[in-house]
Formats: sequence, C-alpha cells, structure tokens
Amino acid sequence: MTQVHVIQHPLLQHHLSILREKTTPPWLFRQQVRRAATILAGMATSDLPTQPVPVHTPLATMTGARLACRIALIPILRAGLGLVDPLQDMIPEAQVWHLGMYRDEQTARPVEYYCKLPHDQPADVAFVLDPMLATGGSIAMAVEALQQWGCPDIRILSLIASQPGIDFLCRQFANLNLFVAAIDPELNEQKFIVPGLGDAGDRIFNTQR
Ligand code: PRP
Repeated sequence: MTQVHVIQHPLLQHHLSILREKTTPPWLFRQQVRRAATILAGMATSDLPTQPVPVHTPLATMTGARLACRIALIPILRAGLGLVDPLQDMIPEAQVWHLGMYRDEQTARPVEYYCKLPHDQPADVAFVLDPMLATGGSIAMAVEALQQWGCPDIRILSLIASQPGIDFLCRQFANLNLFVAAIDPELNEQKFIVPGLGDAGDRIFNTQR
C-alpha cells in the first residue's frame, strides 16, 4: 500500500515556514531547502537495511553496521537539484540519475526532456527528489521510469505536496512511500500549490519573472 509520511519535526516545520515566506531571498531559500531536505532524508532512510561489520576502534574491536543496499538519488530537474547535495552528503555512495521534466504551461502535464536511466542493475532503493508535488504528474512519470528500470523500493521526497496530487499518486501506485513536510489543501487554476511557496525552481535559481 502506498504510504504518505507527513514529517512533523519541529525543525522541519521551522525551515519550511521560512521557505514559504515570499520575502525569503534565493540564497536563503537554497539554504533552507538543504536544511529541510536533510531532515526529510533522515526520516526517509530510517529503515534502510544494514549488515554487521567488524570495526576496529583505537581501543577494541566491535561489531558495527554498514548500509546493505544500493541507493539511487533521482532529482527531477530543475528544482530537484536543490535536494541532491544534502542527500549526497549523507549517502556518498549513492548513484545520481537525473530526470529532466517541465510542466507544459497550457496542459500542466509533464514533458520529459532528459532521461538516461540505465537498462540493468537497478538500485535497491530510489529516492525521487522534487521539492514540489502539485498534480503529481511529474512524480508519476518518474515512478514509471523507475519501475521500468526494475527498482523495487521507490521513495518520494518532497517539501510540499498538494492533497489532489497525493490522492492521484495513491490511486495510481500501490507501493510507494512519500515523505513530505506538508500537504497543502488545493491547487489554483494554474495548478500551483496553495498556499505553497511559489515556483521552487525559480526561487532556487533566482529566475523569477
Ligand atoms: C515544478 C516542480 C515539479 C513540478 C510539479 O517544476 O518542481 O517538478 O512542477 O508539478 P506536478 O506535480 O503538477 O507535475 P517546473 O515544471 O516548474 O520545472 P522547474 O523545476 O524546471 O522549474
């Protein structure tokens, strides 16, 4: 069953509120995305499998643990790039595969313009990175690509999701895990999340028009 985890961590909610504020400048917005993504990642990785390994400390030998799965980070361009560094800092062994998509302004449907996922050796766990989940169309397209790749454990990391987008993904997919900082109630006519935080890609890259 698809599960939606709304992370109520006080630090995450603190950083999210600064992200939502329209006066937050791009340099601070980028920092806040990193901070929020780090907390989301901590929660989304809490049940990853590990295997025991011997560790030799300066004083003794003990049994420690190392990750026992192949992990892929899947940022959706552009805005998903803002979440890559904090995830890579914590999981330096992870592969990073970029998916390029933009939303057609007329139809609000995603248009794929870059995908170089390999055809074999799928990761055991894939984290799809996109700060905004509006209609859910972009995430759905990414999930289909990862399913084709053969990835058995697909986890979505988003800062803000809309309720309609969550409902759509739950109808569409049986076994996703979604980790979000907030679920906002609605989409406006342009399919922007309300109250949301505006266009995350524009705010990260300072391309507001
Ligand atoms: C935004 C956002 C998501 C997508 C969400 O990207 O970053 O990728 O829209 O919408 P959906 O859930 O309705 O598919 P945008 O198209 O603005 O591209 P950008 O990241 O390049 O700015």
